[in-house]
Amino acid sequence: MRLAGKVAVITGAANGIGAVAATLFGQQGAQLAIVDYNEQAGEAKAEKLRADGVNAVFFQVDVASQASVKAMAANVLETFGRVDVLINNAGITKDAMTLKLEAADFQRVIDVNLTGVFYCTQAFLPTMLAQGKGKVISTSSIAGTGGNIGQTNYAASKAGIIGMTQTWAKEFGPKGINVNAVAPGFIETEMIETIPAKILERIRQMTYAPRLGKPEDVANAYLFLASDESDFVNGTVLEVDGGMLK
Ligand code: NAI
Repeated sequence: MRLAGKVAVITGAANGIGAVAATLFGQQGAQLAIVDYNEQAGEAKAEKLRADGVNAVFFQVDVASQASVKAMAANVLETFGRVDVLINNAGITKDAMTLKLEAADFQRVIDVNLTGVFYCTQAFLPTMLAQGKGKVISTSSIAGTGGNIGQTNYAASKAGIIGMTQTWAKEFGPKGINVNAVAPGFIETEMIETIPAKILERIRQMTYAPRLGKPEDVANAYLFLASDESDFVNGTVLEVDGGMLK
């Protein structure tokens, strides 16, 4: 078991990639804080994990609110007593072509995807530093490494995650904390259900793989970066995109 005895916090774990990662982490021996905005789906996910014998507890949060994140982190630490892995996976899209993008939609995506990662990381880092070891993994995107039409706000948030990751790797690497990012390509979850079939076909043609990505592909990258196997990997952006052309 690659995460035996570890406590992992996964944001956005009620659905999609985060939920699949929670299942995988549970199978690998982790105890889990299922952290999400969506109370119903989050409780259901934690319940399911417990039925499978995993010590999992749901914590409700809006990662865009620092007060909410602070309260969640205090509850997590009170419940589990430590934190070994933080996966900053929660994210949203509010796509529009740049000239039509509303300021409020720009700001909300930044607040959740970028500022939320800062709030969550800042909330758990002191405990990791006291432990002398910890893993912070944040979810960027190919939109963050190469931009994407109609995603000014999302691309800015995901590129910002890379800047923060590289900064934190430098600040905290010498203290035993590994800080890395994963940049998924197009992964089959609810998030891409709104993409028109024509565009999905174009994406397929840009990908050097016989299929689209699956949540499991990203969850396996999280697992590597969360495990001791990646102790000498710091400040990297692991692209899980089937070799996509930028
Ligand atoms: P999803 O929409 O299936 O799941 C996201 C989860 O985040 C949901 O459970 C949602 O309730 C939660 N969430 C949203 N806002 C929140 C908030 N303010 N506070 C707490 N929780 C909140 O999305 P998916 O596809 O699983 O994406 C996971 C991560 O992967 C995101 O960061 C996304 O940007 C990234 N990603 C996804 C790709 C894809 O093709 N699906 C491609 C590249 C990156």
